[in-house]
Amino acid sequence: MKRILTGLQPSGELTIGNLIGGIKQMVNYQEEYESFMFVPDLHTITVPQDPTLLKKRIKSIVALYLACGIDPKKNTIYIQSENLYHANLSWILECHTYMGEANRMTQYKDKSKKVQNVSVGLLTYPILMAADILMYDADYVPVGIDQKQHVELARDIALRFNKKYGDTFTIPEPLIPKIGAKIMKLQDPTKKMSKSDENVKNSIFLLDTEEDIRKKIMSAVTDSENKVYYDVENKPGIANLLTIYSALANISIKEVEEKFKEANYQTLKKEVADLVVSTLLGIQKKYHTYMESTLIDEILDEGKRKTNKIAKEKYEDVLKKVGLGRI
Ligand code: TYM
Repeated sequence: MKRILTGLQPSGELTIGNLIGGIKQMVNYQEEYESFMFVPDLHTITVPQDPTLLKKRIKSIVALYLACGIDPKKNTIYIQSENLYHANLSWILECHTYMGEANRMTQYKDKSKKVQNVSVGLLTYPILMAADILMYDADYVPVGIDQKQHVELARDIALRFNKKYGDTFTIPEPLIPKIGAKIMKLQDPTKKMSKSDENVKNSIFLLDTEEDIRKKIMSAVTDSENKVYYDVENKPGIANLLTIYSALANISIKEVEEKFKEANYQTLKKEVADLVVSTLLGIQKKYHTYMESTLIDEILDEGKRKTNKIAKEKYEDVLKKVGLGRI
């Protein structure tokens, strides 16, 4: 059975972008593939974090995975920092990655402009991500478009390593959703919606109240034509709303265009808000039940045990091939 693997950083409250680009794909594929879904908390400290908040978000994100439909019977769910092999493998892979490759990553270039004291971790972050993926021989990595370049780097590192030391890692492929690979900011639909946005009006968070969701969608930036059709170039705000509707209703953009062809922007926004509210309120109800149960710890203990065993084997194989230690 082929393997899929992905993770979402506990660096802020998850948004509908994260739901559509990352989690929904995993939910759809979990029937078909052996699935690994983890919390990349080590990635999160590449920029400064409040330790108390970070700890809370780790548990919260697992509860959200479950509430969004990630089935713990079909997925191995675990926390990255509870497996020491990830950072160890990352070091070895760093020694097989060129500075030029790391410097070329567009997310690094963007993020390093925004933070004051850029950590070395921000530069090496994609290599830790490569370790996360290659450790488990993932065939596919479901992600939004912003992570595609990182998965491609993991591919390049794996190919290089295999060429030098013999077959060691499966070559992973990114899986990018056809609809919703990049959900945009509501107030600036030419830029990607993000968990860590300072303007909360830009993002719909999975745990937003009904009132907030409606307010944010009703005040989303559009254009003045008042005709609904899909045109990313000239009508990015409307295209974004149609995309959100299409992804959450599981229907094509064409069908959504058809449905709203007579509608004005007010009606479109109201219907998008209705759909987002019903989707998120359903998730929130389950979320609170999971947060109050002991299930999360049980799932994470099992995930830790299972992934440490797999990772140990892979890591020792790597040590042997590279000539490290006494194995
Ligand atoms: P992160 O936490 O930034 O994002 C989690 C997932 O959500 C997707 N995403 C979006 N999709 C559509 N529209 C958006 N506006 C949007 N914003 C985010 C991301 O593409 C991603 O799929 N480096 C990763 C975490 C990670 C990882 C890994 C992922 C660490 N190791 C190994 C896969 C495999 C990250 O920061 O994602």
